[in-house]
Amino acid sequence: MTYSSTVHPAGWLDPASDAFHGKDLARRGWSFATCQRCHGDDFAGKPGAPSCLTCHAKGPTSCDTCHALPPPTGAHDAHRTQGLACGECHVVPATWDSPGHLLDADGTPLTGRARVTFGALANRDVTPPRRTAPATWDSTAGTCANVYCHGGVLADPAATHAQPSWTGGPSQVACGGCHGNPPASHAQRECAMCHPNAGAATPRHIDGVIDIGDGSGVCTGCHGDASSPAPPRGLHGETDRSTLAVGAHRAHLAGGVLRGPIACTECHVVPQNVTDPGHLDSALPAEVRFGALATSDSATATWDRTRATCTNVYCHGGGVSLAADTASGKNQVPVWTADAASSAYCGACHGLPPGDASHTPAMKLTDCATCHPGTVGPFGNILVGNGKHINGSVDLQ
Ligand code: HEC
Ligand code: HEC
Ligand code: HEC
Ligand code: HEC
Ligand code: HEC
Ligand code: HEC
Ligand code: HEC
Ligand code: HEC
Ligand code: HEC
Ligand code: HEC
Repeated sequence: MTYSSTVHPAGWLDPASDAFHGKDLARRGWSFATCQRCHGDDFAGKPGAPSCLTCHAKGPTSCDTCHALPPPTGAHDAHRTQGLACGECHVVPATWDSPGHLLDADGTPLTGRARVTFGALANRDVTPPRRTAPATWDSTAGTCANVYCHGGVLADPAATHAQPSWTGGPSQVACGGCHGNPPASHAQRECAMCHPNAGAATPRHIDGVIDIGDGSGVCTGCHGDASSPAPPRGLHGETDRSTLAVGAHRAHLAGGVLRGPIACTECHVVPQNVTDPGHLDSALPAEVRFGALATSDSATATWDRTRATCTNVYCHGGGVSLAADTASGKNQVPVWTADAASSAYCGACHGLPPGDASHTPAMKLTDCATCHPGTVGPFGNILVGNGKHINGSVDLQ
């Protein structure tokens, strides 16, 4: 641009020139007052000195005269796309001359690069607290550290870019950048099973809360329902008894005509807390570990997943002494996924009566009460309330 003026130097209107009016202003520590003397307090011009507004319609001190909002530099646009306000990384000036922006509190011009001052999100913590240091920006290295959003608080050794570079590009925020995919603490990697609402695009991600389960309860967030943490539902939403996940859970837990409820501990090591050892620290499937009742009188109680059966389980007549019972019709190897009728009838676990020296084949259901009156009623019904049937000992009283 050719420009000749009695007041201003050549190059005054050429952004490429050292004499350009913008650069001159910067060198003067942004002393707009100098210009206002001749061009008017409102920059609209005075007689002899033209208006600035012909070129700067919003006025030369408006926010986008000197830089775009945000500037097209580094990862500005990526953060804007995520809806992050400038205030998460800068103190945002109310006006161009707010202290800390171009001038310090005394009006002395500030030099150097933009100031990065992290806000609440970058300095967030999880519960219980884990933060060891505040979020920081290293202008020389061009990286930030201990920034919540980038997993700085999670401090997961499997994360590849928990200290991202401002100019390092989007590959830094692929899954696995801020925390491992899965994190180093995890033995399993099917995120949606345990974090069903936590896809990166949902509002629950990077919100300061490590969301576990669907939020329905500490133990029912991933399996079970409001009535029990046992399936149904299974870990993949199964509700059908014919699935391994669901099987005969509720039949055992509810109790019924044979005995009262059977606790989870008869078949599993039960965690007090979600992160307790033995719970999530191995790959699927869930571990079946028989408890005292299932293993009484049996050192070899086993769950066979392939056949969905258990063998030598005391409760089903698989104890050493009951197994010796030779009466026919027994079903001591019950199928977990079959319906209750196939394994819960009198005669399924032991003979009716048992085939041993204490009984004769002629004994009928209504005879049992004669010698086992605490266990069986006169009609052959189990006296469930007495707690003597399938309790670990043969009761004659
Ligand atoms: C001493 C009075 C005076 C001061 C101080 C002054 N100007 Fe000017 N300026 C003028 C006059 C008079 C003109 C018009 C005549 C000319 O171009 O020679 C002008 C022209 C301009 C133009 C060209 C306008 C156009 O439409 O061509 C720009 C840009 C400008 N001034 C910017 C500034 C800036 C920025 C400052 C503050 C750093 C400033 N001026 C300070 C008097 C002044
Ligand atoms: C006269 C020029 C100018 C105007 C007008 C201006 N800025 Fe700035 N702004 C700068 C400069 C220079 C920097 C320091 C960084 C640099 O060197 O580019 C800066 C930095 C910033 C920063 C980074 C944090 C900091 O303070 O270093 C923010 C945010 C910002 N400006 C917002 C605004 C907003 C909002 C407005 C309007 C209220 C505004 N700016 C008006 C020149 C300006
Ligand atoms: C003839 C058009 C024109 C007039 C009139 C004009 N400017 Fe500018 N001004 C520009 C151009 C072009 C730029 C550079 C914009 C860019 O680099 O994107 C600029 C940039 C600026 C900047 C930004 C400097 C920076 O380093 O970012 C300031 C501040 C500024 N002008 C102040 C003034 C003031 C004050 C006046 C009135 C006294 C004025 N301008 C009048 C054309 C003008
Ligand atoms: C995620 C953090 C972050 C957000 C959000 C952010 N900035 Fe920045 N900004 C930075 C970093 C980092 C720098 C580089 C600082 C340095 O050079 O040391 C910077 C630099 C700047 C600069 C100086 C010029 C430059 O390109 O380096 C300005 C001006 C600025 N930011 C304005 C803004 C404005 C306006 C917004 C909101 C629209 C914004 N920033 C949002 C982190 C951020
Ligand atoms: C078997 C269940 C399970 C699976 C599958 C799972 N997580 Fe987790 N995740 C958890 C639990 C439980 C916690 C809470 C751990 C704690 O508080 O120490 C957790 C915590 C986290 C955290 C916070 C890390 C930390 O340091 O506390 C992240 C990030 C995470 N998971 C990501 C993932 C990703 C990504 C996947 C898939 C690749 C995944 N998880 C798969 C159960 C799981
Ligand atoms: C920019 C950093 C960042 C990236 C990239 C990232 N995460 Fe995360 N992620 C976090 C932070 C921080 C947490 C801590 C919990 C929170 O605030 O939501 C988290 C937590 C999680 C959790 C635990 C549940 C939760 O929301 O708390 C899962 C699962 C998860 N992320 C999956 C992913 C997947 C899948 C991807 C890739 C699509 C991904 N993350 C990419 C930062 C990130
Ligand atoms: C984050 C999802 C999640 C939450 C919450 C959860 N579980 Fe689990 N649970 C699982 C997974 C996955 C398995 C299968 C574990 C395996 O692979 O061994 C499992 C298995 C189990 C088992 C079977 C035994 C085993 O460890 O395999 C029991 C019992 C159990 N959970 C009880 C609980 C209790 C009690 C709570 C509440 C303290 C709870 N769960 C909370 C995901 C969860
Ligand atoms: C009678 C024995 C028994 C009892 C009692 C029992 N479970 Fe299970 N549980 C199993 C069997 C068998 C499986 C299937 C294991 C496999 O897939 O190999 C299983 C699987 C599970 C699974 C994994 C489901 C899936 O989706 O793969 C969870 C979770 C579970 N049980 C929790 C519980 C909880 C909680 C309780 C008590 C409220 C309980 N169980 C009581 C035998 C039992
Ligand atoms: C005449 C008395 C008598 C009658 C009637 C009787 N039982 Fe028994 N039952 C016994 C005795 C004695 C034992 C052995 C107790 C012991 O080993 O401590 C026994 C043991 C058992 C055992 C444990 C078997 C084992 O191998 O340890 C079962 C099961 C049983 N009875 C079921 C029944 C049923 C079912 C009926 C009705 C059809 C019945 N009994 C009728 C006397 C009887
Ligand atoms: C799921 C397997 C199972 C089924 C089905 C079953 N029992 Fe038993 N029953 C046992 C076991 C195991 C014992 C061994 C003693 C104990 O722990 O109570 C037993 C013992 C008995 C005894 C001996 C008294 C006692 O308390 O030890 C009687 C009588 C008896 N059962 C009757 C019945 C009758 C009647 C039915 C049908 C209503 C029936 N049982 C169905 C497993 C079963």
